[in-house]
Amino acid sequence: MDYLEWIKSRRSTRKYQTRPVEDEKLTQVIEAGRYAPSGGNNQTTHFIVIRNPEVLDRLAKLAEQAFAKMEEPPDMYRSLRSAVQASKRGGYVFHYHAPVLIVTANQKNYGNNMVDCACALENMMLMANGLDLGSCWINQLRWLNEDPEILAALRVLGLTEDERVYGSLALGYADREGGLPDRRPLPRTGNPVTYV
Ligand SMILES: Cc1cc2nc3c(=O)[nH]c(=O)nc-3n(C[C@H](O)[C@H](O)[C@H](O)COP(=O)(O)O)c2cc1C
Repeated sequence: MDYLEWIKSRRSTRKYQTRPVEDEKLTQVIEAGRYAPSGGNNQTTHFIVIRNPEVLDRLAKLAEQAFAKMEEPPDMYRSLRSAVQASKRGGYVFHYHAPVLIVTANQKNYGNNMVDCACALENMMLMANGLDLGSCWINQLRWLNEDPEILAALRVLGLTEDERVYGSLALGYADREGGLPDRRPLPRTGNPVTYV
């Protein structure tokens, strides 16, 4: 695959097989994230890699409970509203049952915290595509990154007191024929370019 085709064919996967991700592949995805650029070469992105199904279930339940308690103001971000409504209905699993969730955290008082995590997440998504793995950016733990119960659960997993979550990655084999992610590029109707 040439580089541009590889970038264009990265798509979000939202249905996963239970098949575990091989350690070798997982290590490569994490390395891709760790080698992302960071503001001032800060390198404070913290990768918390969760593979334990019980831990994933617990986080999913805590997130569902937190969303279910939220009010829905009219100007609420559309995706957040969907999470809230799905949680109120019950059975909401924010990581789509992916066998791996890589949480990216960073220093809460660092100005580039979210963008550094975003660079790491994009690197990991591209690496996953190169390894025939599906992946999807997961924002839910960021929306809940001041929720005391979620924070307490993440602290047990290694989040430090001065860190917060700025994004996560669901990772695994796509639940599709052949296990390969859907690689059909989404047409671009936005993202204008101005040449000068
Ligand atoms: C900042 C950001 C946050 C996102 N959050 C979520 C999310 O919480 N859940 C989800 O299913 N997809 C999430 N996505 C994936 C987008 O919905 C997806 O990239 C977009 O619809 C384009 O589809 P594609 O990734 O297949 O090209 C997020 C993407 C970005 C860049």
